[in-house]
Amino acid sequence: MRRLVVCTNSLLFLFLAAAPLFAAPPAVKPGAPWLDNRGQRIQAHGGGITVWKGAYYWYGEDRTQSNDPEKRYVACYSSKDLVHWQFRRQVLALADPEHLGPKWVLERPKVFANPRTGKFVLYAHLDDARYKVASVMIAVSDTIDGDYRYVKSFRPLDQESRDIGQFVDDDGSAYLIFESRPTKGFFLAKLSDDFMSVEKTAFIQAPLEGGALVHADGLYYVIGSHMTGWSPNPNVYATAPSITGPWTEFKNLAPPEANNYESQSTMLVKVAGSKKTTVIFMGDIWKPTALWDSRYLWMPLEMKDGSMHLPPPQPWQLNIKTGETSLKP
Ligand code: DGJ
Repeated sequence: MRRLVVCTNSLLFLFLAAAPLFAAPPAVKPGAPWLDNRGQRIQAHGGGITVWKGAYYWYGEDRTQSNDPEKRYVACYSSKDLVHWQFRRQVLALADPEHLGPKWVLERPKVFANPRTGKFVLYAHLDDARYKVASVMIAVSDTIDGDYRYVKSFRPLDQESRDIGQFVDDDGSAYLIFESRPTKGFFLAKLSDDFMSVEKTAFIQAPLEGGALVHADGLYYVIGSHMTGWSPNPNVYATAPSITGPWTEFKNLAPPEANNYESQSTMLVKVAGSKKTTVIFMGDIWKPTALWDSRYLWMPLEMKDGSMHLPPPQPWQLNIKTGETSLKP
């Protein structure tokens, strides 16, 4: 009898020890509430990803309901695998910096790590309630997770600038992407050496917002959404052999009736693994009447011979070392 108990206990121990081996690996679940290490909803809308010292940092609009309504917040999370995110802190809690008035706007923050100066430079779209100021703002920090100190706002290249995006090329060159309505297109503008201003690099004649760029398989891919406010629309992409073009016509990223699966582009994240290079579409599923409850749609893109396709969202797994992904049925 004693033998039987010992044997049963050993089997139980073995089962418990082996359980993690059989547990399903963590997955990205597009559209589902995404929780951080505290079990709280990730607040990083209209976000961007900064890669620094072997880790990923996700910055975005923090729309937490209990935030001071007079201020605008940017939150920062870090991760080694792009799936588990540790809340670092609210890196910016900014009071109206330019007398913009009630319901002033800070959107789509992006952080660039400057290897020359050692500074971290946060760009964001800064505006008044009617989106007439159309400028960018810059805040700077000595550490990646803040505090970021407001420095200035301006219109890049003296152009109206609304949605912004970020792109860092394989050679380390950093670019601000910004949408310019009067010129009916968007600019890809290289950051100056200190990252505190931009230089004209390329202009893409296409009235799009939510612009993002990636350099993969020898091609530059640009994506964006049409301008329908917070409402989703079919997002589009074009390619070019060089960042200055020439760019192809824009094509749909997904069947137009899918409406981009209710999401809007914010960033393209490249994972160059040991076996495969995967590009992740990072989008927002906006809930304009409850922005805090907006969701994220991240999916690996299907890319072949210069085409780019956003597959229907479903849970998926990423091997951050090999770059391989697998869809979970
Ligand atoms: C679309 C933009 O992409 C969002 O960032 C936000 O500015 C909304 N428009 C506001 O309507």
